[in-house]
Amino acid sequence: MVDDCPFLKNCEHSLLFQGAEACLYILKDPNNILPNGQFLLKKRLLKQYRHAELDKKLTTKRITQEGRTLLKCQRLGIKVPIVYLTDLHERVILMEYLNDYQSLRCFLELQAYQDSDLKVLSLHVARLIAKMHDAGVIHGDLTTSNLLVKQIAENLPLPEAEVVMNGENHSEKFSIVPIDFGLSSGSDSSEDKAVDLYVLERAILTTHANMTSFFQSFLESYVAVSKFGGSTKTKLDEVRARGRKRDMLG
Ligand SMILES: Nc1ncnc2c1ncn2[C@@H]1O[C@H](COP(=O)(O)OP(=O)(O)OP(=O)(O)O)[C@@H](O)[C@H]1O
Ligand SMILES: [Mg+2]
Repeated sequence: MVDDCPFLKNCEHSLLFQGAEACLYILKDPNNILPNGQFLLKKRLLKQYRHAELDKKLTTKRITQEGRTLLKCQRLGIKVPIVYLTDLHERVILMEYLNDYQSLRCFLELQAYQDSDLKVLSLHVARLIAKMHDAGVIHGDLTTSNLLVKQIAENLPLPEAEVVMNGENHSEKFSIVPIDFGLSSGSDSSEDKAVDLYVLERAILTTHANMTSFFQSFLESYVAVSKFGGSTKTKLDEVRARGRKRDMLG
């Protein structure tokens, strides 16, 4: 029961998001230790239709995996929400709330960008996913809801962050943060990486009309940037062919 949760009982909070698997709450930091004075609490819901033991096992696995992979990303120098606490009994993760970010899904839906920025944005996403994959981190649920984005002020002098694309220089314009690692795993297999890319491709094509070119330029950059980009792309073509066959068979 959410009402009995000790993290919520004694702390001012508001519901940020209710999904099928979890509720996310913004908690006011009573001691004002954090820069923005807020935490984010992700509480996984009890699934009444699942056998209690199986539900506990699955939930424990997802929370453990989410915490573990967030820490691994942090160790790799990838910006992710900081994990403050995991509590398997209460089914929660307490983490940093990135209040100045929005999901890539909203960002694309609200068209909060200039057309000329889309290529740079796709390059930033490609560099992030390539870095994760090169370190053997498979996300497992790579959708545009599970990537957060923040546009960095355009006139910030960040010469060290410049990237070269098609011979042109682009300052670091966006910060991209991966979240929702409950289904993540560790693997160096090109099949697992290709499935991650396939899930992202399907998510982009089904939720965002006219975004085919976004995935195409993402993929071009991924192939160029990832150490194993070529072999992952070859595998992706196989995964796509299997997907088409499945669609035809219904
Ligand atoms: N640390 C965070 N800072 C800011 N916003 C966040 C953060 N974590 C999650 N969100 C927002 O809440 C939404 C849901 O979070 P998340 O993806 O972790 O839950 P979920 O999709 O319900 O999880 P699951 O797929 O495991 O059921 C995200 O799409 C994002 O908009
Ligand atoms: Mg999610």
